[in-house]
Amino acid sequence: MSRRHASGPSRRRLLGSGLAAGALALGVTSARGSAPSLASLAKAKGLRFGSAVGAGPVGAITGSFEDARYRQLLIDECGVLVPENELKWYVLRPDAKTFAFERADRIAAFAKAHDIALRGHTLLWHHPKWFPDWLKTHDFGTGPARAANAQAMLVDHITRVCAHYPQIDSWDVVNETVDPKDGSIRRTVFSDVMGQERTLDVAYHAARAAAPKARLVYNDYMGWEAGNEAHRTGVLKLLEGFRKRGAPVDALGVQSHLGTEDPAAAGGLGRPQERQWRAFLDEATGMGYDLLITEFDVNDKKLPSDLAARDTAVASLAKGYLDLMLDYRQTKEVLAWGMVDKYSWLQNFTPRPDGLLLRPTPYDDGYKPKPLREAVAAAFKSAPNR
Ligand code: XIL
Repeated sequence: MSRRHASGPSRRRLLGSGLAAGALALGVTSARGSAPSLASLAKAKGLRFGSAVGAGPVGAITGSFEDARYRQLLIDECGVLVPENELKWYVLRPDAKTFAFERADRIAAFAKAHDIALRGHTLLWHHPKWFPDWLKTHDFGTGPARAANAQAMLVDHITRVCAHYPQIDSWDVVNETVDPKDGSIRRTVFSDVMGQERTLDVAYHAARAAAPKARLVYNDYMGWEAGNEAHRTGVLKLLEGFRKRGAPVDALGVQSHLGTEDPAAAGGLGRPQERQWRAFLDEATGMGYDLLITEFDVNDKKLPSDLAARDTAVASLAKGYLDLMLDYRQTKEVLAWGMVDKYSWLQNFTPRPDGLLLRPTPYDDGYKPKPLREAVAAAFKSAPNR
């Protein structure tokens, strides 16, 4: 694996100067060999491809940004990066007064140095579990001032974070607010004080004001597998409500954590409901929403141990899914939730019973491209232009 880009000018600048072509002619190659990058294959179709990256040490394995080989892989393959945790309230807001931008700043500086775009995740993870403890118990006062104070804190947060990263042109404004159990909107300290719809609308209006040119996204994990019916219905209801009330939401972020925890799932990777899934996407796009694949990975926890068999099954599922998604010209971005297996959040979230590593990302731990990378490349190559 070449380390030639570990420091010094970016590959894109080298390409511009013709030096990279010379380096390639000398036989110096990246982890993907001489194959075109995923970013360039995506770009040829009017898409953007990239990955999440963590600046650690939040979470046990989100330290990927510390690894020079990983950084090089991001430079080689990605046209856009998204901080995995660094823009979330629980990292950015140690208390009601402080903004701790340092970790996200490091990722932003890296992206800028290599001419890689930056997307933002997330201004409001509207799920009580992911609120920092101080916020869960924050005293917003009493009487009419209470709702005004809550709104002021939310608007101030969004305004300051957007202003700090004016280069972010695509924002997951609200994340995961639909409860998959019954499709209802989750309750948090903000919605208890302000009301659910108002909380979400305020977030989008604040984001539009602070980032007028950015694509504003509602992001969630409703999937194509059986068991997601209520979640999908709830998301469509939410999207319809945004349109009715005039909340400025541009796109639906489909997280796309494929694979499943469902023990009844056929073959261990879930039971895709293609017809229902297309109907869901038709409804969302019919309302004028663009689509993004925001957190793509494939959970192979339920597959047998054999690595080659797992890789083949994962790649085949991914190709079918990506083909379907890219068939929609409204799909504009594809983000992997990590590029190398050992750094995937899933290793912690759903470890395999046999103790082997999961293989949910395009590259293995030797930084070798896997069949999943080929599946993504093939899906980009066969995707229609947009
Ligand atoms: C995950 C990160 O990958 C983990 O490191 C962290 O511990 C928890 O959050 N849906 C989302 C992402 O919207 O923010 C989550 O990221 C994965 C599921």
